[in-house]
Amino acid sequence: MDPHSRGCWGTGRKIWRRMHVKLHLLLTLAHLSSLSPQVPISRPSKLESLFDSQICSIFQVFNGYFVHFFAPDNLDPIPKNILFVIDVSGSMWGVKMKQTVEAMKTILDDLRAEDHFSVIDFNHNVRTWRNDLISATKTQVADAKRYIEKIQPSGGTNINEALLRAIFILNEANNLGLLDPNSVSLIILVSDGDPTVGKCHFNFLTTNTFTLVPWNGGELKLSKIQKNVKENIQDNISLFSLGMGFDVDYDFLKRLSNENRGIAQRIYGNQDTTSQLRKFYNQVSTPLLRNVQFNYPQTAVTDVTQNSFHNYFGGSEIVVAGKFDPAKLDQIQSIVTATSANTELVLETLAQMDDLQDFLSKDKHADPDFTKKLWAYLTINQLLAERSLAPTAAAKRKITRSILQMSLDHHIVTPLTSLVIENEAGDERMLADAPPQDPSCCSGLKEL
Ligand SMILES: *[C@@H]1O[C@H](CO)[C@@H](O)[C@H](O)[C@H]1NC(C)=O
Repeated sequence: MDPHSRGCWGTGRKIWRRMHVKLHLLLTLAHLSSLSPQVPISRPSKLESLFDSQICSIFQVFNGYFVHFFAPDNLDPIPKNILFVIDVSGSMWGVKMKQTVEAMKTILDDLRAEDHFSVIDFNHNVRTWRNDLISATKTQVADAKRYIEKIQPSGGTNINEALLRAIFILNEANNLGLLDPNSVSLIILVSDGDPTVGKCHFNFLTTNTFTLVPWNGGELKLSKIQKNVKENIQDNISLFSLGMGFDVDYDFLKRLSNENRGIAQRIYGNQDTTSQLRKFYNQVSTPLLRNVQFNYPQTAVTDVTQNSFHNYFGGSEIVVAGKFDPAKLDQIQSIVTATSANTELVLETLAQMDDLQDFLSKDKHADPDFTKKLWAYLTINQLLAERSLAPTAAAKRKITRSILQMSLDHHIVTPLTSLVIENEAGDERMLADAPPQDPSCCSGLKEL
């Protein structure tokens, strides 16, 4: 890192820093709905001036609720080990494949020399560009691009074998001591179809082709694939999924990623797929921190939303919210710990309670319940993610009840509720459904 850059943490050594942050964010409800624990930063330009580059940790505290925004940016990228796992089954034939190839070419160009990568492509067979992780030199990147260009989509979709293969390659590289101990390992799965194959026994074996192991002679259930992946992946690999098009079993991809420290995103094939893929990749291309923990040591702080994050990526933002007892606290302490490319970091922030009246008098659009709504929104989204992974029907029902109660209490529309719109006279009513759960790449991140 440039020793002169003004980072919130400084460089190369452990720094304790105490900041008194008293800063209001005037976010509208439209922002609120786009916020999640980790989202790309898209602030209106009016607000930008408020953000000193030194400040990477911002608190908003109102009415017994706090929201903590965290978005440091001037840190060195952490090297990444990345496996691209690309579905090349028959249904990818045509435009989808062409767009995937285009996107992959730019994505590969974005790799940094200290990154390691490989490419797996799969239909009913699983092939690899290389059997090991390769450093992302110009020559290797050019070679991988040629490999991807030559792919001819055909056949079925064996997601199971492909993912297990990816996990194996990453683990093997690590076990052979080839990976930087301070690097992050990612799998990016690009698929458009239901994982239909798991039963065939195709045996043509070239150097880069692996034989399929027949699975009880029967087709693999999605739940079985999910279980296999979960059992094989350790907590040192994050799995991101990109679902191409409308016919994809997106819930399945979402569960896979939610359960394995990643996010899923749907890519709509009729729009500009190439740029959607690139945009998604940009969000995970620059890991800046690992193992980010937010601690609020005071006992008067409760109901904190997800406060532990496997990775923090450049260009995104982590949002953590919680409740506190205003009678017992007049300031909230937070201690954020994380590992950066060069050091262990600790950031301590002390947020003073704000003078609500003063704030409200200055801006008539300010919503004194903003922090409460954001807390509820984050909590509901977390519950929805938990619900999709609930192990039993009873557990699922219990979570569903909590979600319904919270959405009624806080007037937040969820996929489990509908919104009744009434005209002023009260004699006409309309029912509106909740928006689809993943309007953008970012909302998936809340489910990390
Ligand atoms: C993850 O951790 C396991 C167990 O410690 C180890 O065997 C494996 O090599 C690690 N994988 C990666 C990619 O770091």
